[in-house]
Amino acid sequence: MPQTDMLEKVTIRVDFYRRGKLLYSAVSFAGYAGILTGWKPHQFAITVNERDKGNFINNIVSALQELLNGGKLYPVTMMTRLAFEQDTDFASVVSRLSSAQLIAPVYYIISGNQTDQGIVLVRTQYKTLGTNQLDQKSGKWFIVETNYDPWMPPPPGDDRRDPAIKAMNSLGQARLSLEGLFNVLSVPPVNNNHTVYTAVFSATRPATSKAVIRDSTEQQTKRINFDRKQK
Ligand SMILES: *[C@@H]1O[C@H](CO)[C@@H](O)[C@H](O)[C@H]1NC(C)=O
Ligand SMILES: *[C@@H]1O[C@H](CO)[C@@H](O)[C@H](O)[C@H]1NC(C)=O
Repeated sequence: MPQTDMLEKVTIRVDFYRRGKLLYSAVSFAGYAGILTGWKPHQFAITVNERDKGNFINNIVSALQELLNGGKLYPVTMMTRLAFEQDTDFASVVSRLSSAQLIAPVYYIISGNQTDQGIVLVRTQYKTLGTNQLDQKSGKWFIVETNYDPWMPPPPGDDRRDPAIKAMNSLGQARLSLEGLFNVLSVPPVNNNHTVYTAVFSATRPATSKAVIRDSTEQQTKRINFDRKQK
């Protein structure tokens, strides 16, 4: 899968500072201005999950076309970047990402720093079709999102949802940790040859967040260099 190989080589961890203070951290691709995955310490975290139409490269191309045409639609990962730069709490991020006018459909996955602040927004370019939200009272202590609408069964040829749910249930809420989550994300086929990187991250525990690049050609994983800081 040449595109996966290419993205593995350019996946980077970036820390964004404002006036000497860490504003947020992100995993993204070198030379790519948007934010795919990021966490803002003690406030919120977001990741972008591809929804159906096109792939990231196609979306970048259509984003450029849209910009050149002077359009009013935002690239999905520029919207997350705006959220990281401007928002300071879960509710404002959910509001921004629910109503943004976008270049492509997407699943926005957002977590906050309070109980039940975890939501998947199912986005078309123009509106939110539905949401999937944590609800501890009814026993919903995790949400799995694997590139398909939550109210539809995953296609038989690409069911990563059920193996992930099974792995989450055997991990159990009492033993939940970022390391445990990382193991869930490492279970095949949740981790497969198309996986570029795996990131586990938390707004409330930013220091324990980590990401690894999955190298599909060498069948090994490489830890992203977390020491390099960029302003
Ligand atoms: C959660 O975020 C809000 C908004 O930024 C902040 O006021 C609050 O102190 C945070 N709570 C914790 C436990 O970090
Ligand atoms: C992933 O790639 C490796 C090496 O090319 C291959 O042996 C393996 O069967 C592939 N796994 C899947 C799930 O396609």
